[in-house]
Amino acid sequence: MSLRLETERLLLRPLAPEDVDAYCAMMAHPDAARFLTPDGKPQDRPAAWRGFATLIGHWAIRGYGMFAVVEKDSGDVVGRVGPWMPEGWPGLECGWGIAPERWGRGYAPEAAVAAIRWTFDRFPDLPRIISVIDPRNENSQAVARKIGQEKTGEAFSFWGLSLDIWAVEREAWLARFG
Ligand SMILES: CC(C)(COP(=O)(O)OP(=O)(O)OC[C@H]1O[C@@H](n2cnc3c(N)ncnc32)[C@H](O)[C@@H]1OP(=O)(O)O)[C@@H](O)C(=O)NCCC(=O)NCCS
Repeated sequence: MSLRLETERLLLRPLAPEDVDAYCAMMAHPDAARFLTPDGKPQDRPAAWRGFATLIGHWAIRGYGMFAVVEKDSGDVVGRVGPWMPEGWPGLECGWGIAPERWGRGYAPEAAVAAIRWTFDRFPDLPRIISVIDPRNENSQAVARKIGQEKTGEAFSFWGLSLDIWAVEREAWLARFG
């Protein structure tokens, strides 16, 4: 059976080629792109397509990756959330990105809880799940707090930026959300 996760308002399934339009539309929006692109600027379709290919390729290489987040009521793909650990990354991350038209509804934390539950189940020896967050990204820090992550004090340098590592330990997370 194909992989599907369900929450109260959302369906999560592995990102697939048919999600390319929704992904490129999100990455063309300045508010979505601000902390997701190397220069903080919106991406044109060719640049976003290459980023999308990386997300699809992550599934092929690692066997896990970002889920397309589908709003049950509309059937629309409203973002991508899920586990992510490209080569050189400081740990297994849960990442999130939601189309700005759907911000503020709690979709990112709702999807992240389902994705993290799946990830801890899939990797029984995984001690923690991190998120790599720009210190200026207040929205992302709010999501991290809602899903039980705390700032660890560790830093990770990427795209010339010093990024904070947030994390939640397996046992603490399972006690609250498992
Ligand atoms: C971070 C992000 C995924 C949050 O998604 P979301 O589904 O809106 O999450 P929430 O509804 O829980 O909102 C999180 C915070 O965003 C802020 N926010 C909510 N609606 C907002 C809006 N319309 N405009 C600006 N900020 C808003 C609030 O501070 C909120 O925290 P609060 O609920 O404590 O007030 C989303 O803002 C996003 O996609 N940002 C761009 C991509 C990104 O930065 N990803 C993370 C990289 S580390």
